[in-house]
Amino acid sequence: MEVQMKPGPAVTVIFGAAGDLTHRKLLPALFNLFLDGWLPERFAVLGIDQREMSDDAFREHLKQGVDSFSRSGKADPKDWSRFSSHLTFLAGDFTAEPLHAALADRLNQADQSLGDATQKPVHVFYLATPPTLVGPIVGHLGKAGLIADRKLSRVVVEKPFGRDLDSASALNHLLTSVLSEPQIFRIDHYLGKETVQNLLAFRFANGLFEPVWDRRYIDHVQITVAETVGVEHRGGYYDQAGALRDMVQNHLMQLLCLVAMEPPVSFGADEIRNKKLDVLRAIRPILGESVDKNTVRGQYGPGRIDNQQVPGYRQEPDVAPDSATETYAALKLGVDNWRWQDVPFYLRTGKRLPEQSSQIAIHFLRVPHRAFPESAGPSWPPNQILIHIQPEEGITLRLQAKRPGPAMQLAPVDMHFLYKEAFQSPSPEAYETLLLDVMRGDATQFMRADQVEAAWSLITPILTTWAASKPTDFPNYPAGSAGPQAAEDLLARDGRSWTPLPDAPPKSPQTPEQPPPATPGPTS
Ligand code: BG6
Repeated sequence: MEVQMKPGPAVTVIFGAAGDLTHRKLLPALFNLFLDGWLPERFAVLGIDQREMSDDAFREHLKQGVDSFSRSGKADPKDWSRFSSHLTFLAGDFTAEPLHAALADRLNQADQSLGDATQKPVHVFYLATPPTLVGPIVGHLGKAGLIADRKLSRVVVEKPFGRDLDSASALNHLLTSVLSEPQIFRIDHYLGKETVQNLLAFRFANGLFEPVWDRRYIDHVQITVAETVGVEHRGGYYDQAGALRDMVQNHLMQLLCLVAMEPPVSFGADEIRNKKLDVLRAIRPILGESVDKNTVRGQYGPGRIDNQQVPGYRQEPDVAPDSATETYAALKLGVDNWRWQDVPFYLRTGKRLPEQSSQIAIHFLRVPHRAFPESAGPSWPPNQILIHIQPEEGITLRLQAKRPGPAMQLAPVDMHFLYKEAFQSPSPEAYETLLLDVMRGDATQFMRADQVEAAWSLITPILTTWAASKPTDFPNYPAGSAGPQAAEDLLARDGRSWTPLPDAPPKSPQTPEQPPPATPGPTS
């Protein structure tokens, strides 16, 4: 499908328009797209929610969201007034026919005012609702004939997409009974992040890295998504989910796919997704007894973050006081193919860790022969490429260099590429990129049915084994610590260790390292 840079006329219908996601993410994203000139001239946003609200009250509610959460700060009144004239609201029961009849009327009106004889507007239905409502809403959209146009109607489904393989397959079945696959946009917001997309550019637009990107040169890969936040106000959802479902099945698996995939032939949506699917299919499932050996789960207890005392997970609102839900997960995965055989991929994610840091660390093999004298340094760490996803966005190449001075001494040095230094323009938020992609009809950065199911087929056996043997040591890491000891042991058993947290690029120019006193003795 040919993808246009700026989309044609579009109506975005948001189910759950009074909710948190719309308030914090979707509307600020649409507003920023508008400010940056990415939205089509002819666009409309129709918010739908169960509670009654006037158009004006709806706009005011959204403005507060923009003022508090937009990356470009408080809305300028003139800009807001130009933008908000495109916003309207409709109240009704998502699962009842009258709402969908009223929606059909509204869409007809919008088509009249935004379309013309040559171009009809695209209809995007964004389901910012609890997962239980996805089936009923899509069913009603189908009955009302609102998703019959396979080219011009699209449905965006938020995570969680199922809670195991069976429920995800059932949801896929339900969706594909009324929609064609290209109409379904399953969101994983990590795929909209600028640095995550840059992984493709880094790997496939440079000739330098691909020749060494395999088992002959890489020792292992670490993928870390560390958060300082706890479960905030989402205890009800999170206590039924846990870190493996909430983060690993989707975000971390997608990062792994981008690191491990083969070079694509083109940037077509299916080409990229086929290559990622190949990775998921090559991952060795962790089954039965190997679950204990290759996985770690943890739950935070009370502790300190940023010098503030914070409660333990079991003390959070809407969390069971004896909850066995994991807030930390670490896995060791193997990818059984020619490129990655015997190169472990270690994944870890957790809440209430000491730093917010999402990072991929590629650890290269040691040099095969140490030609330098002992005095050059008792040991020197192998090269690393650190891909910083957030909060700093950039890439670090970790090298060995000769210390200045008369003696041959080695010291590790870092070469940094920082997005904010290299490019003057600010990075768009993930939701900006993804919303624009939906309007443009580009599904490259969205999950296809088979990818979702392949990821669940790897995660479900772990969940089943964990559910069968409740942890006896929870909570097993204090808030503010680097996670449970068992996660350190997972790597220590292989003679490796996690890249310490934090390991971010410098925020300001580095001051040159002072050389140590010169070691007397011969130099080479
Ligand atoms: C969401 C999870 O998908 O991603 C949250 O449900 C998590 O629990 C969030 O906090 C992390 O996203 P980001 O963009 O802040 O790294």
